[in-house]
Amino acid sequence: MTALFAGLISGTSADGIDAALVEFDDHGHPSLLTSITHPYPAPLRAHLERAVRAQAFPLAELAVLDAAIADAFGDAADALLTAAGVEAAAVSALGSHGQTLGHYPGGVHGNTLQVGDPNRIAARSGIPVVADFRRADMAVGGQGAPLAPLFHAMVFGSESERRAVLNLGGIANLTILDPGCDISGFDVGPANTLLDGWADRHGHGRYDTGGAFAATGTVDRVLLEELLREPFLAAAPPKSTGREYFNLGWLDVRLGVQHRDPADVQATLAEYTVTTIADALKAYGTGVARVYVCGGGVGNTDLIRRLEARLPMPLASTTELGVDPDFVEAMLFAWLARERINAHSPAGLANVTGAQARAVLGGVWLPPRKL
Ligand SMILES: Nc1ncnc2c1ncn2[C@@H]1O[C@H](COP(=O)(O)OP(=O)(O)O)[C@@H](O)[C@H]1O
Ligand SMILES: [Mg+2]
Repeated sequence: MTALFAGLISGTSADGIDAALVEFDDHGHPSLLTSITHPYPAPLRAHLERAVRAQAFPLAELAVLDAAIADAFGDAADALLTAAGVEAAAVSALGSHGQTLGHYPGGVHGNTLQVGDPNRIAARSGIPVVADFRRADMAVGGQGAPLAPLFHAMVFGSESERRAVLNLGGIANLTILDPGCDISGFDVGPANTLLDGWADRHGHGRYDTGGAFAATGTVDRVLLEELLREPFLAAAPPKSTGREYFNLGWLDVRLGVQHRDPADVQATLAEYTVTTIADALKAYGTGVARVYVCGGGVGNTDLIRRLEARLPMPLASTTELGVDPDFVEAMLFAWLARERINAHSPAGLANVTGAQARAVLGGVWLPPRKL
């Protein structure tokens, strides 16, 4: 029997909630039925930005954000079902990633914090919610990220060639898929997060549309070398990162007081993203026949052009494999919800996240019973 699951995520970029309604066939193969991006209301986005930048804010604000973000996720689920013309009762479960406020892997008490109270989403939608995916992996020593590689293997894997899947979100993550079995994956470094921050600071909006700003600049090789000295890049997987590490504060320390043309810095940041990806593929992607790209960065023409110029293998959007690159992550959370509800094999991938065991990912929140 086919089954419907929905997936909801707002990623590192906090640009809005991507929502996907996914139909799974008898073999568990997913097809994307309907997808929408539901923007955060402007005041909530401003609140969220402040919170993420501040790194320290009152507990009361954290509690309020948890509820406000949940309500925005509830709105997104609502809008998705309306767009699809599907009743809530027809959806088996809703997988919600929530919004990451902080990701601190490693150490004795490493942890990761996603907010968007699942109780509220379940009460609002009337659909069982599966959420809190990352902490189960962290509880057994994993990084809690990336979670996508198993899903990438199922949807994008090939029996005959070695492939890579490159997700260009706020952070870039890379999955290497060998024909047959082996799957590896890790966070490479910043994809869009520094580009977004710098574009915003210099009056180019929340992101550099098409990479037009970067395209007018000249790469500053000295600065690029300085940025490339970042130890995270040379560290061996498993590894994951986020905005609490790669942010404008991080960049400002490296820029120092020297005056630089803002467009040149933007071009250098684009080249930085591309160089870190090329280096990661050189180290871990020997024999990769093709790189399939997904995530919002697919819309950055300048970034894609630079990648094409730099990578030794051809690049293609996941569209070529029949999947909309903007909704791969949302589909992942629909899939994770199904894995959890149907109690399939644990979805955690120890050799990707570094966990000591494969954990069953996600808790289940049932809608409150109506009296
Ligand atoms: N047309 C575009 N031009 C340039 N960048 C884009 C465009 N569309 C999306 N992006 C980039 O993609 C990011 C969102 O990508 P997404 O995959 O949603 O990331 P995340 O998972 O971090 O939210 C935006 O912040 C922006 O940097
Ligand atoms: Mg996003």
